[in-house]
Amino acid sequence: MKYEKLESIKGFLHGGDYNPDQWLDRPEILDEDIRLMKQAGVNVVTLGVFSWSSYEPTEGVFQFDWLDSMMDRLYENGIHVILATPSGGKPPWMAKKYPETMRMREDRVRHHYSDRENQCNSSKIYREKVRIIDEKLAERYHNHPALIMWHISNEIYGTCHCPQCQENFRAWLKQKYGTIEELNRQYWSRFWSHQYSDWSEIESPAAGIGEQAVHGLILDYKRFYSDLTVDFIRQEIQAIRRYSRDIPVTTNTFHHDCGVNLADLAKELDVASWDLYPRWHCGDDKTTEWDCAVSASFDLDYCRSMKRQPFYLMESVPSVPSQFAVCKLKRPGMHLLSSIQAIASGSESVQYFQWRKGRGGYEKFHGAVISHNGSGETRVFRDVCKVGRVLKEWKEIKGAVTESKVALVYDWENFSALAGQVSLKNKKKNFREMVQEYYGALLKQYVSVDIISQNDDFSGYQLLIAPNLYLFRDETPEKIRRFVEEGGNVILSVYSGLVNENDLAYEGYPPHGLNDVFGIRSEEVDSLCDDEYNTITYRGKSYRVMDYCDLLQEDGAEPMAFYERDFYKGMAAVTRHSYGRGTAYYVAGHMEEAFLVEFLSDVIRKAGITPILEVPYVSDVMVKERKKNGTRYLFLMNFSMETRTIRVGEHDHVLDGYGWEILKQC
Ligand code: GLA
Ligand code: ZN
Repeated sequence: MKYEKLESIKGFLHGGDYNPDQWLDRPEILDEDIRLMKQAGVNVVTLGVFSWSSYEPTEGVFQFDWLDSMMDRLYENGIHVILATPSGGKPPWMAKKYPETMRMREDRVRHHYSDRENQCNSSKIYREKVRIIDEKLAERYHNHPALIMWHISNEIYGTCHCPQCQENFRAWLKQKYGTIEELNRQYWSRFWSHQYSDWSEIESPAAGIGEQAVHGLILDYKRFYSDLTVDFIRQEIQAIRRYSRDIPVTTNTFHHDCGVNLADLAKELDVASWDLYPRWHCGDDKTTEWDCAVSASFDLDYCRSMKRQPFYLMESVPSVPSQFAVCKLKRPGMHLLSSIQAIASGSESVQYFQWRKGRGGYEKFHGAVISHNGSGETRVFRDVCKVGRVLKEWKEIKGAVTESKVALVYDWENFSALAGQVSLKNKKKNFREMVQEYYGALLKQYVSVDIISQNDDFSGYQLLIAPNLYLFRDETPEKIRRFVEEGGNVILSVYSGLVNENDLAYEGYPPHGLNDVFGIRSEEVDSLCDDEYNTITYRGKSYRVMDYCDLLQEDGAEPMAFYERDFYKGMAAVTRHSYGRGTAYYVAGHMEEAFLVEFLSDVIRKAGITPILEVPYVSDVMVKERKKNGTRYLFLMNFSMETRTIRVGEHDHVLDGYGWEILKQC
């Protein structure tokens, strides 16, 4: 029932953010928009993302006539609507009358009215105003035939440190710890005399002027604010649900570290969606087009994994955003290729920010489908039309799923803790990079990858890779043990299993609770300067190891690679240990990608995982697949400007520069 209308659209969604309230005095522009949308194969627009001041120009005075006629006209022209709640941007009267709706910075300075997405998520009056406007929208449009999805707020991110948020933080802590003694125990607060005698003494952490020394507190504040934000979104969903029960809701997420644990947020949503703006063509000698494609693919796979279902690419840009350091145009072919990449990764849509450039405002030069020239006779418009045609041609793929036997653990709490802790290397930590490098090496194996958190269900995967999983929640060691016991393969890497969920170091040797599963004990970790490296030898070849070298005590594991330099020359750098019916691997350092490619290929083969394509990696060619009713759709994508050839079965497939092909196999 909930997805009926959405699913009634046969084929992918193609369209994007449309802000017609900027042109209400120019009816000829609105007519032209609809004409051009039809020409471009647009079948959906997202309305009202920042329209609050057009709906409620002064407090309590509402006007929806323009939206009524817009929704009707779009529908008459075969264009559906994703309707947003406007809480991402508020009218100036709000801040003037209710300054407490504005966010307070870490240094306890309140924002003046400005920008957008800077509200306090604790503010009762803000929540109330949001509830009113959301209910009005839901009541008025829930039955509108154009409506297919609700879009809650916009790219929610950030934190607030106002007195109300401090109060709520203390209440959250009370709920978590029960007593101040327990909080003190978990925060190890005798150190530097930080023992709290009363809840009222607790303040949110703040760089420069506030607490930075109690890592458990820093982590808890992030968790608290994430919970608060999820609650804010939940309240918006409830307001919508009061009148509209059978239309799915989403919110457009855009960053893994936006101040919200997206794994928690995903539970509130019917479908996941993502805004993606890769920096195509901006590579220097360190970042290639392939690197950019890997990082875009990571975000897309991440979004699909949020609900382990197809998702929606809610925003992208057909030309170039305006906020990059260097705003390079998408080269011919790249718009279509990057749109295919989204579909290949499980997206049900290609949508843009935005349809038409406004004449003023911060983003007046941000790429859009229609530029200030107002013309459909442009390269960008032709590119968008081409995407429209290809999406139509391949509409049967909509609904096809991605099946992954490999999961990469990229856990918000873990990375929040790693960012806060002090040790090893404190400037260039490179922990997130390490996860991306494993991911990049996996793409070169041509396997599908889910990106999950340690709280997720591991069953169904054959290989679990958890690079630097520093923070183990209480239940994690047992989950990993069971996974291996039952035949799973797991890879942990340096600096894993050191602290509990409050960043309190575990007693004993890392990885906590798993020494017998891995057959190793981590005794100490050496850190290397940015321009230093050690080397390891693996299957007769030498590879670099950077940043971190874990020195292991072996206790049953079989060493697979050895350090070649320094005082730990000859010690194990990679180990393998059989446990139950599975295998546990430990990678002791930050290895160069060439090693990861070799090593993962060996592990994947040994684990019996069937790749999408059993061919060696062809430089710059990404391969993905989606499956539906016994049919497999294979996506071959060339991220180089040069021609590439890849073999599928008996045939060589030649892909031009930025070329792609979709193969249908029944
Ligand atoms: C985000 C926002 C949009 C717009 C784009 C610009 O994705 O949601 O409103 O600002 O960035 O790239
Ligand atoms: Zn606040």
